[in-house]
Amino acid sequence: MFIFKKKSSKHISSFIEFNPKRTFLRGSVVVPGDKSMSQRALIIGLISIGETLIEGILDSEDVYYTMRAVETLGAKVKINQNNRTVTLTGVGLGNLESPKKPIYMGNSGTGTRLLIGLLSGSNAIATFYGDESLSNRPMDRIINPLEKMGANFVCSQEKKLPITIIGARYKGFTMPIKYKLPVASAQIKSAIIFSALTARGITTIIEPNKSRSYTEEMLKKCGVQINSKINKNYNNTVKVNGKDFLNNCNFIIPGDPSSAAFIVVACLITKASKVTIKNVLNDPMRLKIFKVLIKMGGKIILNKTSNNTCDISAEYSKLVNITLKKNDAMPLIDEFPILSIAAACGQGKMSMKGLGELKFKESDRFLAIKEGLKKCGVEVNTTGEDMQIIGSKKIKGEAKIDAKNDHRIAMSFNILSLIAEKKIRVIGNNSITTSFPEFFYTLNSLFK
Ligand code: S3P
Repeated sequence: MFIFKKKSSKHISSFIEFNPKRTFLRGSVVVPGDKSMSQRALIIGLISIGETLIEGILDSEDVYYTMRAVETLGAKVKINQNNRTVTLTGVGLGNLESPKKPIYMGNSGTGTRLLIGLLSGSNAIATFYGDESLSNRPMDRIINPLEKMGANFVCSQEKKLPITIIGARYKGFTMPIKYKLPVASAQIKSAIIFSALTARGITTIIEPNKSRSYTEEMLKKCGVQINSKINKNYNNTVKVNGKDFLNNCNFIIPGDPSSAAFIVVACLITKASKVTIKNVLNDPMRLKIFKVLIKMGGKIILNKTSNNTCDISAEYSKLVNITLKKNDAMPLIDEFPILSIAAACGQGKMSMKGLGELKFKESDRFLAIKEGLKKCGVEVNTTGEDMQIIGSKKIKGEAKIDAKNDHRIAMSFNILSLIAEKKIRVIGNNSITTSFPEFFYTLNSLFK
């Protein structure tokens, strides 16, 4: 399911895998738009007054389902196939429509959690459900603060999807709260922020470490008063003022650094490779993966091309493993699967700490990385939330990896397969369509 009609089915991952004659990677590519920003642009478009034009939107399943959801909640969506843009006409804040049918969100944790937040501050009632992976992800982390703000929820005791939300303004009003997040999470923070937009007063959110802040930045652009401040213990305090309406804005979305990381690691571990990725989102937090790879000896150059874009060049490198601190975990949260692949090919011991949140992603990534690498012949040790990977010059491979509906696990083990002595067969490559449908096509276009 995609937003734009594809020129050819070969762009879509489920139809092709790697070219068997591959040698090394050379050339220059772009990666599709940032997933976090694409979904936020759609949700903000829904609640703005007037038209929102989105350029560079990620054309993937997660974004598709978020787009269909905002349409069901009242936005008018116009897809322009020629210039690959999406225009939304919003309904304004708190004017969401109560859909007649439950809304299907596929695999999209971000779309679901952010929309549940938005619904919580509205006068609407809606039910969300998702695929098997999404139905197993914890929602208590958003339900707890949103209930305090006045929303009501109908769901199982486990507090997982399907969930019906009765917006706080259905019978009353949205309460501003002061809430300390149990874990740093952009999704929980954003769910509260979206609900707080209709609150009478200031909502304060404190997160133990700063998570990505696109919700804050994009809403500020639309006239919302949001301030954030980090103290000496790294706690990030965000204050949001309630609002009556949102000015409409347009969004141009650069390439997703998380998708770029797969290509960069493929290049670092495949001899004689040299690649440039153009027009990637230039956000220090999301570029942390490349800083870590540089520290490991990766020959990577980040070239700023505008205020919020950069080009990334990488070439084959001898990687040396390092020790990461617990505080490094937050900005690398989506990158541990592919970082672990780099570590498996690096020299010495890679030590990664504070990986507990990996257990709550599209699959239990902590387990998937550990078991998957072991199957491929790599030594991995874990204690509590920490993991150590002992790099090896040769990766045996000859393994079957079940990606369990997790796009990043699927892409990571496909990359490891490039240099394994014997093939690594990944089950569930279809999941890649949630974030990077052109994954195989892009990599194949670089093989010389
Ligand atoms: C995201 C936040 C992160 C990340 C996810 C996208 C977002 O999750 O893992 O892929 O767009 O807000 P958490 O905030 O739950 O860590």
